[in-house]
Amino acid sequence: MANLASEQSMLKGVILAGGIGKRLEPLTSITNKHLLPVYSKPMIYYPLQMLIDAGITDIMIVTGGNNAGDFLRLLGNGIEFGLKHIHYTYQKGEGGIADALAMAEHFAEGGKLVVILGDNIIEKSIRDYVEKFRAQPEGAKVILKEVEDPERFGVAEIKDGRLISVEEKPAKPKSNYIVTGIYMYDSQVFDIIRTLKPSGRGELEITDVNNAYIKKGQMIYDILNGWWTDAGTFDSLLRANKLVAEMAMSNKK
Ligand code: G1P
Repeated sequence: MANLASEQSMLKGVILAGGIGKRLEPLTSITNKHLLPVYSKPMIYYPLQMLIDAGITDIMIVTGGNNAGDFLRLLGNGIEFGLKHIHYTYQKGEGGIADALAMAEHFAEGGKLVVILGDNIIEKSIRDYVEKFRAQPEGAKVILKEVEDPERFGVAEIKDGRLISVEEKPAKPKSNYIVTGIYMYDSQVFDIIRTLKPSGRGELEITDVNNAYIKKGQMIYDILNGWWTDAGTFDSLLRANKLVAEMAMSNKK
């Protein structure tokens, strides 16, 4: 049996790669958004590498829709990434991010999770944030980023250096800091998800999960170093391609 210290530091990764990619139709009419190209690789490669670079090798991909089998064909057991195994699960329907995360309860085995939205791409490693979370006794952590178009995202309200609320896609954002799709949760997350009610768009919102942790006084944040982008709209997909291409070019120099 694992001892308490190693159980406390056990940290698994979950990549949420379901959804129907409505905002990218017709690109997503016959394939999953997370299989679309971002410069030289399928989108899913980036969040997967992000977790591995942070030292997380026990990983589950939650997918959905019609193309779930293609992830297995593409990634297999992750040998190409130096992994021994990748876990997969399937989200039926369009229940939202928190509903997709609920699929990972069995995989989590009561431990802590780093959860990445499959369309989030970043420049630098999240290893330091993850290491700090390993040492955090309980609760959750979100990673914030300052952006020019906060109304497209979950927006952070910060007062006296504390995160006091997150508002999903507000018409009047309270700050330029948004909650990226990089989340860290302890095992309470699954009980919290069970209390959620579908939002106006008919989904279980990850923002409601984050607000529940804030209410408990168990949410902290870090601000991400380096560039960050999502890739779920035509503009952000183009931006992701450009940023990754520029990075690849400058690495070649
Ligand atoms: C989702 C979350 C939002 C978050 C964003 C990050 O938005 O709901 O809070 O800021 O991911 O990528 P969606 O991509 O579903 O619009």
